[in-house]
Amino acid sequence: MRNLVIAGNWKMNGSQTFAQEMREALDNADFSERITTVVFPPFLAIHAMLGSGKFAVGAQNCYTEQSGAYTGEVSPELIADAGCQYVLVGHSERRTLLGETDQVVGKKVKLAVFAGLTPVLCVGETLDERESGNFKDVVEQQVVAGLKELNGDEVKQVVVAYEPVWAIGTGKTASADQAQEVHAHIRSVLNSAFDGAGDAISILYGGSVKSENAAELLGCADIDGGLIGGASLNSKEFITICRIAADSH
Ligand code: PGA
Repeated sequence: MRNLVIAGNWKMNGSQTFAQEMREALDNADFSERITTVVFPPFLAIHAMLGSGKFAVGAQNCYTEQSGAYTGEVSPELIADAGCQYVLVGHSERRTLLGETDQVVGKKVKLAVFAGLTPVLCVGETLDERESGNFKDVVEQQVVAGLKELNGDEVKQVVVAYEPVWAIGTGKTASADQAQEVHAHIRSVLNSAFDGAGDAISILYGGSVKSENAAELLGCADIDGGLIGGASLNSKEFITICRIAADSH
């Protein structure tokens, strides 16, 4: 049985006041033990979210080295040391806006695993790539490159998030069929690259997930949770999605 994960990516949102309010709302919510809930606040709000028994905490990014003269960067080791369990790697906003390559992503994933974190490797095609029809190849290439430094045991520590770029923050969601098709492809790529390990790896869907479309998406056989952006900034909405997830499996 794969772990069902609902993760909230706050992106560059989340003041100290916001974090305190969200913390209170999540701590008081009635979460099902059947799902794992994770929040990804900006670095400066991580501290306010640590130590809850209801949800885990992750960072939205990490650097490609564990320590040293890298002003302004934060390593997987420091993220783990602060008490986080997760780190997002290769989010499309970082790939597009900050030029993060597959090679950089692969290195970050490896170091995150080494530091004892669960990296959430984000992959997904652009609208052009979707329309050109080769979106499965694009996603496959990102998955293979992102995990290429891992062995069959290490890969089981990873979560993959399929987030079609055209669905992120746009209000356009992939249909359940479109999402399931890519998730099944990712799983078969993982199974053949890592000797069957794909069946144990959670693959989340991300891109305009909200309470209205969560049940349909999470009901798909190969969708093991969601990476939620905009809708995770509203505690009621986020908690509703967590409940829908718990009921879906
Ligand atoms: P969205 O973002 O839910 O706002 O589309 C998802 C993400 O970027 O992780």
